[in-house]
Amino acid sequence: MGNLYGKVAIITGAARGQGAAAAHLFAAEGAKVFLTDMNGEGAAVAEEIGSDAFFMQHDISDESGWSRVVAAALERFGKIDILVNNAGIYRPATLQNTDRNLFDLHYRVNQLGIFLGMSAVVDVMAKTGKGSIINVASGAAMRGMPGTFAYSATKWAVRGMSKCAAVDLAPLGIRVNSIHPGVIDTPMIEVNGQELNAVFTTLIPFRRLGTADEVAALVVFLASDAASYITGAEIAVDGGAIL
Ligand SMILES: NC(=O)c1ccc[n+]([C@@H]2O[C@H](COP(=O)([O-])OP(=O)(O)OC[C@H]3O[C@@H](n4cnc5c(N)ncnc54)[C@H](O)[C@@H]3O)[C@@H](O)[C@H]2O)c1
Repeated sequence: MGNLYGKVAIITGAARGQGAAAAHLFAAEGAKVFLTDMNGEGAAVAEEIGSDAFFMQHDISDESGWSRVVAAALERFGKIDILVNNAGIYRPATLQNTDRNLFDLHYRVNQLGIFLGMSAVVDVMAKTGKGSIINVASGAAMRGMPGTFAYSATKWAVRGMSKCAAVDLAPLGIRVNSIHPGVIDTPMIEVNGQELNAVFTTLIPFRRLGTADEVAALVVFLASDAASYITGAEIAVDGGAIL
């Protein structure tokens, strides 16, 4: 029996990268997965998984859309045990090169979207007295990462929101943790260019980038009952990165 047998999870940003990897691993561990993404190609991920998966197009910064996601997940699978707040954007720029629009864009997706997601599932989880929320932050929320001003700011916010939510929701039986991937080999980091990603690799003691599957393994653990006493934690999955 899988580590997530019988559980139902919403996974955002599931069309590719870490979200798609989590979707596959969750299903392999016995979960039913309700996948969302603003990119309609997430439907193909659900199709690959089969009847234990369902896809709905949704922009996580759209509040009313969250009500539709929760209603559809309940209709399809009957409950929500897990929320993986994974969707995010990364448009690196220094403070000097960050204008109001770029800042707002990061805020709306990486910060507001995660807040709306947590808010949308609390009542449903509280009714069962149990739930696990995993918020995908970043190594950029552990230190000051050069040239990623708006991105880092919102990921620090994810770390802070997770800590506060963990305290608020513990009496309801809901666990909230943030994870902090280092440099993970997904389409997101193509914007860095090969040269910069090679420099990053020299700052990772394992001397290689992480994989989406390695991140998914941590998400499965935090979602599972094996992590029943873990809340408010911030867990790095970064090969010991010093960047
Ligand atoms: N790849 C890395 O090195 C790395 C490192 C640290 C943290 N992260 C975080 O991990 C998460 C997943 O990243 P990834 O590497 O898989 O990236 P990715 O770009 O490959 O995938 C992100 C997915 O999120 C979706 N998305 C973007 N904005 C959305 C929105 N408003 N609503 C719904 N879906 C939206 C995209 O369509 C895409 O499918 C992100 O939160 C990212 O910030 C990634």
